[in-house]
Amino acid sequence: MSENQAIGAINIRYSDLAEKSCCLSCGGAINHANPAEGEHCADLGSGRGVDVIKIAQAVGDSGKVFGIDISDGMLDKARKNAAKFEVGNVEFIQSELENLPFKEGQLNLIISNCTINHASNKGLVWKEINRSLKKGGRFIVSDIFSLQEVPEEFRKDPEAVAECWAGSVTRETYLQQLKEAGFSEVEILEESDPYDKGKIQCVSWTIRAYKA
Ligand SMILES: C[S@@+](CC[C@H](N)C(=O)[O-])C[C@H]1O[C@@H](n2cnc3c(N)ncnc32)[C@H](O)[C@@H]1O
Repeated sequence: MSENQAIGAINIRYSDLAEKSCCLSCGGAINHANPAEGEHCADLGSGRGVDVIKIAQAVGDSGKVFGIDISDGMLDKARKNAAKFEVGNVEFIQSELENLPFKEGQLNLIISNCTINHASNKGLVWKEINRSLKKGGRFIVSDIFSLQEVPEEFRKDPEAVAECWAGSVTRETYLQQLKEAGFSEVEILEESDPYDKGKIQCVSWTIRAYKA
């Protein structure tokens, strides 16, 4: 599976889901974010922009919130939602998570809900998160991990990855990638019981760490 195939399958799946009412989240990252007035924030995999709009209202005009997403349909819907709610301090940018459009140390807060499992190079995503945060800045991420390694036949299937399960890694790999990116102290804010998803068993969790 090439990176282009993976992104193509994600774009098709999520552009379609953008117009449908369906639950896209893994947990409650937004509930733990506590954005403060004036903060600069980003939501990675911002979908229809609902969390971006909530954070934008909390940070006010002196703050700014970026929504990052790869899918045309989601970006279109998110921009329409921001216009509908007359929220001006937001910007939706089409970008892959491995190459974030931020300067080093630009952001106080990064959230993400049910997106990082899709990324082809999760180690690089975590390094990009670390690079984009200010010292003392935080991330709050809801995502899934798999109980066992996902078999290669599913890992390499772009549609299974787009369905939000086949790209997941084990808890051990997840924590190792965080550590390698500079996040050695990670708090677990929420953790589900294992459940079946696609052809695997996985767990949803919400985690937080601060840039040292
Ligand atoms: C499960 S949805 C979650 C949307 C939103 N965070 C929510 O909770 O409602 C995943 C989102 O991430 C986006 N996405 C998936 N893989 C991505 C990638 N590699 N780079 C950027 N966005 C991606 C999809 O287009 C989709 O909008």
